[in-house]
This record gives sequence, structure tokens and C-alpha cells, in this order.
Amino acid sequence: MAEAAAPAGGYDLVIRNGRVIDGTGAPARLADVVVADGRIAALGDLSGVRAGREIDARDRIVAPGFIDAHTHDDGALLATPEMAAKISQGVTTVIAGNCGVSLAPLDLAARGLDGPPPPLDLLGETGLFRFPDFAGYLDALDGAPAAVNAAFLVGHSTLRLGAMARLDRGADAGEIATMRATLDAALEIGALGLSSGLFYAPAKAAPTDEVIALAAGMAGTGAIYATHMRDEGDHVIPALDEAFAIGRAAGVPVVISHHKVLGVENFGRTRETLALIERAARAQTVGFDVYPYIASSTVLNAESVAQAARTVITWSRARPEFAGRDLDAAAAALGCPRDQAIDRLQPAGAVYFAMDEDDVRRVLSCPRAMIGSDGLPFDERPHPRLWGTFPRVLGHYAREVGLFSLEEAIHRMTGLPAATFGLAGRGAVAPGAAADLVVFDPETVIDRASFEEPIRAAAGIALVIVNGTPVWQDGAPSGARPGRVLRRGAEGVA
Ligand code: ZN
Ligand code: CU
Repeated sequence: MAEAAAPAGGYDLVIRNGRVIDGTGAPARLADVVVADGRIAALGDLSGVRAGREIDARDRIVAPGFIDAHTHDDGALLATPEMAAKISQGVTTVIAGNCGVSLAPLDLAARGLDGPPPPLDLLGETGLFRFPDFAGYLDALDGAPAAVNAAFLVGHSTLRLGAMARLDRGADAGEIATMRATLDAALEIGALGLSSGLFYAPAKAAPTDEVIALAAGMAGTGAIYATHMRDEGDHVIPALDEAFAIGRAAGVPVVISHHKVLGVENFGRTRETLALIERAARAQTVGFDVYPYIASSTVLNAESVAQAARTVITWSRARPEFAGRDLDAAAAALGCPRDQAIDRLQPAGAVYFAMDEDDVRRVLSCPRAMIGSDGLPFDERPHPRLWGTFPRVLGHYAREVGLFSLEEAIHRMTGLPAATFGLAGRGAVAPGAAADLVVFDPETVIDRASFEEPIRAAAGIALVIVNGTPVWQDGAPSGARPGRVLRRGAEGVA
């Protein structure tokens, strides 16, 4: 490829001799990549080019930085802006505000609440919930950037908390109008869409029509509806039908969050769910994300415990000493039955072993599957997906198991989510695209976080660059925080 004229200030960085996998699914090819002013300036044989920094990537892959399609990093971006769990995996952009719970817009104190009700407590401590409007939250991030880029969904449960005094019923017309106005204001300044968590207490009582009424305001705008469905167990099929019905009635694209089927009696049923998703996709826009593990994780609740073969406590405010221990062991130590132990540990979180490996592989293998960690950044003993998701897909499921090629795996972490969420100029190694890049060793890349040792950086990730600036190198964060808020409709977002 021809070399672009060097910018006045010269090139910042050139990555030489790497095997470039560009995020489209196209085969790897040998190419140099040159970066200037936060963007990819050129790509090809650039042996004549000189830059401020030269990096040799021989035998390594050079790929677009990964987009974590499903996160709960809303509070972590402010509280732990280095974002080591993410940059150590090659993640350069996170989609936050999932599962119906976004940090903003919600001022807990103004609503007379002394703490975030579960599962909002997964997003961080009470003091973080201090943004009565979405603009204030984005301004705070603009003023104190994180190491990664971030884009945001607005949570339905968060809207309900802001608009309703009681959550054990459907919203009335006035409350819907209030929520709709709050959502519209957030969309206007760049939110990506609406998320719901109909499984969880704050939204369980919301009828389908309430969600349609909110999502309908997004029709034709490109904003999306993402959902942690009402049920991922025995009633997963009606739950999928509800999600598709909301998308059709409101005229918006649907993203099914962390697609899975839970409970031993439902093992194998991803054959049905994936067939249903394919059928729906013929008539409407449908996508989903998935994490590469057979255990799930969320707040401690009896329903999830009932579906699991084994439950491990990840944190407990009431009894912190039980973090990392089995629920049954905690119940024995407390000298009470399981149900009582669940109550006595609250507020608390847990990991639930409730999936079939074949189901996980079947879901991962679907060409529609985006990779999303669903990591819980404040858990004391987090599910290993927080630190391991992306290297596990690359090293375990692509290289060791052979579920798909490296090119396909990378497409599902880059080009596919960029297209789904409308992140223009991201998720690609191409001239003019943002210089969000990861350089890794395809022979050694692997997750090292495990259920036993959940806080461990992955192996094989050599260099991670966000907007042209290295954030992870030599096995450690660089300390730089070049991340940006990605706003829908603004520069960098379609
Ligand atoms: Zn969820
Ligand atoms: Cu989630």
C-alpha cells in the first residue's frame, strides 16, 4: 500500500512485521501499522517510514483492541480508572450499563435511599450513585478519563428507581413519561440504547408493555435494546419471545445478554434457543453476547441457587469471611439451612455452576456471538471472566479446542460489536480508524484467572494501545488514561 504523507509532527509509532488480523474476519497478513495523532495512518510495507517509537511484532498478531460487549464497569471507570482487569486482556472499549443497571442517571441520596438495591450494588459503593442526570456522569468521565474507551446503555431498573416510589408493580402512565424523558435526554447526548434486567427484583414486576413504551422512543435512531431476560432456565423460550416482541413492537434492534441456558434439566436446550434466534433474525435485527465459562455470577439469590449444582460466595457484606467459600459450607458454619444462609449473608454475590460445556460451546460457535465478559469489578473473589474472558476465547476455545479460527474469534470481539453498537471507526485495523490495538502471541495467549485464583492477568498480551497511547506493556499498566467516552451520533460513533 502507498504511504500516506507523514503528518507535520511525524508518526508517533510504527508496529513492524506483525501478522495483522483486521477485525473483519479476513485472513491474517504480514503488514506494518503506523500510528499518528491517535489514528492508524497507514498499513502495509512501511519499511521506509520512521516514527517516534518502533515496535517489532514479528511472530505476533496485531489486531484491533477488543470491545467488551457486556460489562458492569460504570462505577469502575471512575473508581479504578486504570482498568487493569480489562487492558491486561487487550480490551480497549467497554460497553457498560447492562442488565438494566446503569450508574446514571440516579442520585440515590435524592431518592431517599441509603444504598443501591441489588443488583445495582454490583456497580460499586453508594457514593458512586451521585449523578441525577446522564450528562453529569459523562462529564465526570470526560474530566477524569479511564485507560479504556467506554460507551453506555441506560438501565431500565435505574430509570425505575428514579421515577417510582415502589418497584413491585408496573409503571403508570406518568411514571413511564418520566422514564421516557430521562431516557430521551441520555440518548440525545450519546447513550447507545436501553438495557433491561427483567429477571431482577427492581424490574420483575414490569410488564412487557412498559418496556415497549420506553424502547419505542428509540425507533429508527439506531439505538438498541439489550436485555438480561426474565428467565434463562425452564422458561427461556417465552423469555426470548418477549425480547423479540419488544424489539418488533418498538422497532429497535435487540441484543440478548450473556446468552445461556441454566439448570441441569435444561442442558442441551441451546439447540432450541439458537434456532429460535436464527428464525427471529430473519424478520428483525437480533444479536447476542456470551462469556466462555460454565458458571454464571450475580447477586446471591435463591432462584439462581436452585438452578446450580454448586454455589460459591463471591462477596458478602454481612459476613465477608465467607467470600470464596461454597454456600453449603457457609450454611454449615452458620448452623442453618441454605435458605436462611442466603438471607444471613445479604447483601452478597455468588458464582453459580449451572451450565453445560456443550451448550457454552454451541453458543460460542454461532457466528452471531459477540464476546462480552459480564465481569463484576467490585467482587472480592470475582468470577474469573472479569480477568480472563478474551484470552480464554483466543487461547482455549480458538487455539486449543479449535471451535473457530483466530480471525473469526477476533471478528466477534471487534468488528461485530463495533457494527452492532454503531461504534464507527473502531474495531478495525484500517487507515483512518482509531488506533485501538492489541499485539499478542498466538502461541501463548491464555487466561490465567481461575475460580480458585480469580485475580490474575492473562498470558501472552504484549502491548495494548488506546487512541494511539500504550496502556499495557511489559506485563503491566503504563499508567496512561487515554480512554474516551464514545457517544452515539458523535465523532467515532455512527
Ligand atoms: Zn445480566
Ligand atoms: Cu450483566
